[in-house]
Amino acid sequence: MSMNLYERIPNNVNLSGDKRLQRALEKWLPNYLDWWREMGPDGFQDKEVYLRTAVSVQPDGWANFDYVKMPDYRWGIFLKPADANATVGFGDNYGMPVYQEVPGEFRNALRRIIVTQGDTEPASVEQQRELGKTCPSLYDLRNLFQVNVEEGRHLWAMVYLLQRYFGQDGRDEADELLQRRSGNPDKPRILEAFNQPCDDWLNFFCFTMFTDRDGKFQLAALAESGFEPLARTCQFMLTEEAHHLFVGETGVGRVVKRTAQLMKENPNEDVRELGAIPLDILQRYINFWFSYSLDLFGGEISSNSADFFAAGLKGRYKEQDNYAEHTAANENFMLTVVEDGRLAQREVPLRNALNEVLRGEYVKDCERALARWNKFLRDDGVAAELYLPSTRFHRHVGEFAGHAFDVRGELINAEEFERRRAEWLPSMADREFVRSLMHPVTEPGKIANWIAPPAAGIKGKPFEFEYVRL
Ligand SMILES: [Fe+2]
Ligand SMILES: [Fe+2]
Repeated sequence: MSMNLYERIPNNVNLSGDKRLQRALEKWLPNYLDWWREMGPDGFQDKEVYLRTAVSVQPDGWANFDYVKMPDYRWGIFLKPADANATVGFGDNYGMPVYQEVPGEFRNALRRIIVTQGDTEPASVEQQRELGKTCPSLYDLRNLFQVNVEEGRHLWAMVYLLQRYFGQDGRDEADELLQRRSGNPDKPRILEAFNQPCDDWLNFFCFTMFTDRDGKFQLAALAESGFEPLARTCQFMLTEEAHHLFVGETGVGRVVKRTAQLMKENPNEDVRELGAIPLDILQRYINFWFSYSLDLFGGEISSNSADFFAAGLKGRYKEQDNYAEHTAANENFMLTVVEDGRLAQREVPLRNALNEVLRGEYVKDCERALARWNKFLRDDGVAAELYLPSTRFHRHVGEFAGHAFDVRGELINAEEFERRRAEWLPSMADREFVRSLMHPVTEPGKIANWIAPPAAGIKGKPFEFEYVRL
């Protein structure tokens, strides 16, 4: 499939061969740019940023790095190349040819999935809109903007699917994606984690670590889809997404490193006094973002997940690589649930537990990151450890919503939860303290006191490189 990089909308979907779609997208483009100017990074729209732009879908050299002003970014539509012999990889239609159009009975459900995924992309840009003003370094500022423009491109990816495959409904949904606003009580974004403020850099790093990581697993499950255009779209989005997760994981890791270093150098002092983020506050931020992100996987027991899997629309994480049996039809899954006020085990058909299965993969991935961060602490001789709270803690969706649990997952009553809330979740005072550290550092090569510099720069450039020309 050839790349049309110099059309108004860069694409590899032969847009100029589908005039109707091209017109619809070209009509949407100025509205998108209006949204970007209104809700994109505030105060930096005319600055040159050293950004990567997708220019190919080949694994080697898919991106070009250069200075660009964000409103001039070449947002485009890129799908992984098609495999002519692709077959449905799981479910009841396992082994049949993949679907090139939306299966009729799943039209609404699939539209919902695409809209929900699509809605998170602009939402995160909105949540992060003010962060540039308090960046800890030019390197971090550039990474923020890289994430922002690519979330914008992910919106394009979802809007392409809506406009190409869902007719008038899809065009209406595409318009509404530009109308909802993160945190706006009248027209909020669809998912709760995307209405939470992300107004300091610790929130940003936790968001890209934990919430973007949900995106990775959702995209990975959809990248297995038998609806081929969706699969190929998500496969390419995952290429970009990896950097967002890198920003989050290394961002939190650098906070841990800096705190550990100061604790080591000043064993008798409170790192707060030294202008860094103490581990207890960091732990509460982890608890907050991890629990909200777990909700994004949906209920533990879900007939939707069963229907989607049966239809070959949404698979498991690495369905082809990690599983030998692809129908998941005659297996059961043991879940913990709340029954009569206590925890109990319940066996459910595996297909009904696929949200939980995907969540389990996510948790494993988070644990890997935690182990790395704890190694930074050990390296500096700090005995304390960071941890992930129980997956039952602070949940608003699924089996555990409406019950109170401590961070170890023990059922407690609501009063106890409220009494101990400030022990487990960021308080106003925590948030204010973190915010009090957020002063912009914009001199090339300099970095804020509360975070360690990265191990390496971007694309072989040194940390001192002028990543954003202010
Ligand atoms: Fe995204
Ligand atoms: Fe992302």
